Amino acid sequence: MADIFFVFFLGAIQALRELPIAINTEAANEQHYELPVEFFKLVLGRHLKYSSALFNSECYTLDEAEEAMLAIYCERACLRDGQTVLDLGCGWGSLSLYIAKNFPNCKITSVSNSARQKKLIEDECRRMGYSNVSVLTCDMNSFEANASFDRIFSIEMFEHMKNYEKLLYKISTWMHADSLLFIHIFCHKTFAYHFEDNCDDDWMARFFFTGGTMPADNLLLYFQSHVSIEDHWNVNGKHYSKTSEEWLKRMDANAERLKPLFHETYGSEAGKWWVYWRTFFIAVSELFGYNDGEEWMVSHYLFKKK
Ligand SMILES: C[S@@+](CC[C@H](N)C(=O)[O-])C[C@H]1O[C@@H](n2cnc3c(N)ncnc32)[C@H](O)[C@@H]1O
Ligand SMILES: *[C@@H]1O[C@H](CO)[C@@H](O)[C@H](O)[C@H]1NC(C)=O
Ligand SMILES: *[C@@H]1O[C@H](CO)[C@@H](O)[C@H](O)[C@H]1NC(C)=O
Repeated sequence: MADIFFVFFLGAIQALRELPIAINTEAANEQHYELPVEFFKLVLGRHLKYSSALFNSECYTLDEAEEAMLAIYCERACLRDGQTVLDLGCGWGSLSLYIAKNFPNCKITSVSNSARQKKLIEDECRRMGYSNVSVLTCDMNSFEANASFDRIFSIEMFEHMKNYEKLLYKISTWMHADSLLFIHIFCHKTFAYHFEDNCDDDWMARFFFTGGTMPADNLLLYFQSHVSIEDHWNVNGKHYSKTSEEWLKRMDANAERLKPLFHETYGSEAGKWWVYWRTFFIAVSELFGYNDGEEWMVSHYLFKKK
């Protein structure tokens, strides 16, 4: 039995090597970022972190748990003030803005494929007086940094990618001998799979995750031609479960302010999409909470250039 899975897994890795870096990028972008930023401001925590938080023993609120996860990235990546930083898949700027605040001499370049995200981060930098952050809107398939960075971070972007070989090669060209690459993904403990975009039965793929990948905990370890692994951590899935539960609570608590946004965005389908978004948060919470958080989870990786 183990052999069959092994062969299957190697076949899947070969398949990933033959795909573009990312596929269906427009659809994935629209699915999550169609709603105006007000939605995310009312549903996510204070840092607008659109990825798992860390509810360690001192965290009682989502805001604290977001901050605990952001802090652990910097610690695990051995980030020091004054370094140059690249944040790939920067979202609404949770990590870039955290670094700008806590490491004021770092020079930060933040990249995502969403122009709305760029605008929000730039507004926030202006408001807070951070002058060392520059934000670029670009698809990972074509992004070229043309520079090297001391630290490269990517938080929950690799799940939108396919060809890890090409992506990690590209990233390695932006690293020097002392650079470190820190990656946070969600994953299954053993199996990697596609979110099948042409499959009517895959609700998550159709409405929320077209072109996405569920990585396995060890998937990235198969792509070490240009980078090599220095360290690797697991974060129990219950942290993500609780994060998504908090998002759902906020959505419900802010229903009165959010419903008009749904009407503006989805028109006559607003009622359906209200239920879809609630279902999305519930599904994430249940998936990561399954089997005491030891089936689907979050993993962290630290790579250096080969
Ligand atoms: C789940 S969000 C995580 C955001 C952020 N890192 C955080 O933790 O708050 C995924 C991010 O990856 C970006 N992304 C997804 N596919 C991309 C692509 N093909 N090119 C560039 N960015 C992409 C999205 O725009 C978004 O910013
Ligand atoms: C930006 O970084 C430089 C050093 O690289 C530092 O001198 C400057 O104070 C920083 N700016 C802000 C607004 O923190
Ligand atoms: C890198 O160089 C290419 C080609 O000159 C250019 O199109 C691109 O905008 C540059 N990227 C950045 C981040 O400056």
